[in-house]
Amino acid sequence: MLWFRCGVLLFFCVCPLAPLMTSPCPASCCCPRGGVLVLCESLGLRSLPRSVPLSTSALSVARNQLCNVDHLLLPFAGLQELSLSHNLLARVPRGLPPSLESLHLQENRITYITSGSLRHLKNLTRLDLKDNRIRAIQPGALEGLHKLQVLTLRGNELTNLPPKLPPSLTDLDLSANCVSMLDLPSLSTLVNLQVLKINSSCLRSVPESAFDSQPRLCCDKPSACQSPAAPSDIFWCNRN
Ligand SMILES: *[C@@H]1O[C@H](CO)[C@@H](O)[C@H](O)[C@H]1NC(C)=O
Ligand SMILES: *[C@@H]1O[C@H](CO)[C@@H](O)[C@H](O)[C@H]1NC(C)=O
Repeated sequence: MLWFRCGVLLFFCVCPLAPLMTSPCPASCCCPRGGVLVLCESLGLRSLPRSVPLSTSALSVARNQLCNVDHLLLPFAGLQELSLSHNLLARVPRGLPPSLESLHLQENRITYITSGSLRHLKNLTRLDLKDNRIRAIQPGALEGLHKLQVLTLRGNELTNLPPKLPPSLTDLDLSANCVSMLDLPSLSTLVNLQVLKINSSCLRSVPESAFDSQPRLCCDKPSACQSPAAPSDIFWCNRN
């Protein structure tokens, strides 16, 4: 019976602390920074944990087995950072809160980005879609994201530069895809772009004029640009 007594003691030791916390932490999760940050990672979750405080501003449910969280996060009106990485999502969840600034969806099973799935996330500055199975991004899907600066699409199945990217982009990672055409008119609208990563071995050619028409951009690895057959990614950086 000793273990039982210990259990009871532990219970009485832990519980009196609970009222001191501003909001309770969901079972098995951990909530550093006074509950502002809620971490529910690697718990084998198939659904969102119950009783995540609605005031949460950063939530990670990474490394679980979530396949559908549609509309479940909408009540979190102040949620700024969300990680759903390393789950089983087949598409961008519907009904994400418009307060989001940073959205991590890497290592899921997303195949397609529809034009409506992200459009309302006007405050988004970082979007990580690395290591999914994305084959297509509908035109306009990213167009209205006027604050988006960092877009990571590394490790997908894209063959084209995504259409209508927002001019706010500073970092675009398309490496480990197989983009065959550099669409210069689209690139030229990206007036803030500082870094572009792309797999040069898939490019059919890098137009001679690529850098003439892009005075802002220079090639970080000139040799890679001159021989696009080289099995390495090419990088552009801002000359300024
Ligand atoms: C977006 O950001 C602005 C500026 O920080 C803020 O005033 C606004 O409330 C945010 N929008 C949402 C939906 O949270
Ligand atoms: C670039 O693409 C080629 C051809 O698909 C592939 O074999 C190579 O691994 C890719 N390189 C990188 C760094 O992803």
